[in-house]
Amino acid sequence: MTENCAVILAAGEGTRMKSEKPKAMAEVLFKPMLRWVLDAVGAADIKDVCVVAGYKSEIIEEYLNAECTVVRQTERLGTGHAVKCAADFIKAHSGANVLVLNGDAPFMDAVSVSDALLAHKKNKSGVTVISANVPEPFGYGRIVRSSDGAFLKITEEKEASAEEKKITEINSGAMWFDADALTKALSLLKNDNAKGEYYLTDTIEIIRKEGMKADAFAAACPDVVLGANTRVQLAQLNKIARDAQLEKQMLAGVDIPCADGVIICPDAVIGTDTTILPGTIIKGGVTIGKGCTIGPDSLLENSSVGDFSVLNSTQCYSSEIGSGVTVGPFVYIRPGCVIADRVHIGDFVEIKNSTVGEGTKLPHLTYIGDSDIGSGVNFGCGSVTVNYTGKEKFRTTVRDGAFIGCNTNLVAPVTVGEKAYTAAGSTITHDVPDNALAIARSTQVDKEEWVTRKKPYKNK
Ligand code: UD1
Ligand code: CA
Repeated sequence: MTENCAVILAAGEGTRMKSEKPKAMAEVLFKPMLRWVLDAVGAADIKDVCVVAGYKSEIIEEYLNAECTVVRQTERLGTGHAVKCAADFIKAHSGANVLVLNGDAPFMDAVSVSDALLAHKKNKSGVTVISANVPEPFGYGRIVRSSDGAFLKITEEKEASAEEKKITEINSGAMWFDADALTKALSLLKNDNAKGEYYLTDTIEIIRKEGMKADAFAAACPDVVLGANTRVQLAQLNKIARDAQLEKQMLAGVDIPCADGVIICPDAVIGTDTTILPGTIIKGGVTIGKGCTIGPDSLLENSSVGDFSVLNSTQCYSSEIGSGVTVGPFVYIRPGCVIADRVHIGDFVEIKNSTVGEGTKLPHLTYIGDSDIGSGVNFGCGSVTVNYTGKEKFRTTVRDGAFIGCNTNLVAPVTVGEKAYTAAGSTITHDVPDNALAIARSTQVDKEEWVTRKKPYKNK
């Protein structure tokens, strides 16, 4: 039998967002709403997905980068029409079930989707609508039930009677369909309604007429319906998502003594007894071990940190940091760094595309770019790897136990040997042998009584 699949509707423009992007690409916790929906679908173990793109579809196509099927809806003629654009995809899943959902409802979750599928299969329904009970149903399609509670139909806001408008159970926009029943219903769909659109909700009546059951399954949490039409509403979604993530992390043993300015994205995995201090943003896929202190004022993106490390006022992108590492304040770790255990990185240090070995110390005012620094190395204050000729970039190698004197320039490509020293203020332009001291600066000259003779001071 063919596998179940999902069709995600994401053709909408979202005019009131006043954006160059399609609405489903608007971000909640730095993640497009479409990605939230894709993640929920993935977590519900639905592998085959088709996204219906329309407004600026090329942005969605580029973002998805062929991870799933994308079809274009060239004119926005309604949710039913949007699903029709995926007719071939749906036909290819004949015999299975199809989940249709809105690409701009980021909080639809895997549990609601899976539970609704169980109910859908158990009842042998042609369609099962995922509904939600909300305090303010305005604008949504209402779930109309008979006096004995049986699901009858969905009435859209524009067609709803005064009585129907009072109904607080609404259509989330997500529905499970029997693929063949959906194919048939789409072929019979008309647009003879108040908006002149092809309503997906009209498939319910058609499926019933064709002799299959239709039901509504209420999701446990009403947030599954939430979407945003404006940036103000988008900020509200961010607030809900942010609070939920903070609560999740705290309940899992993460210490957040003051949540001011703390944003933790849903893909973060943080160990117990780690403390997150104010002004800290944890973006994308980040893993942090136990007993760490992150913040204040730090940003970590797509990075990993071991156990018992401290990152104070640090920005870290696409890098790996080991255990027992101390970083900051005011440190910038750019993509491609691998920092080993027990490294100390002090204030005003920038590191890029480099490896730093165990126990190495970079205490202050240093730039390390395109370098491989061994273990037990000490970098004096103000040392710099000179990695760029203006045209090309080269690597610097510093072997284990080397000592780089203050204000050394290491002009790449260059290697400093094991346990070698560089004298303070040296500009090192060729390799330094193991155990050697390299001095590359002019010798000091003292001009006796120069000041007495020259009198360089105005009033002395
Ligand atoms: C729809 C439902 C309504 C439900 C609500 C939940 C219908 C007729 N109504 O209403 O019952 O309560 O969602 O949010 O289905 N889209 C396209 N192409 C189109 C039109 C829409 O891809 O031609 C996409 C939108 O980008 C969006 C989704 O479908 O992701 C829902 O569209 P929207 O216009 O927001 O539907 P509503 O009228 O709000
Ligand atoms: Ca909507």
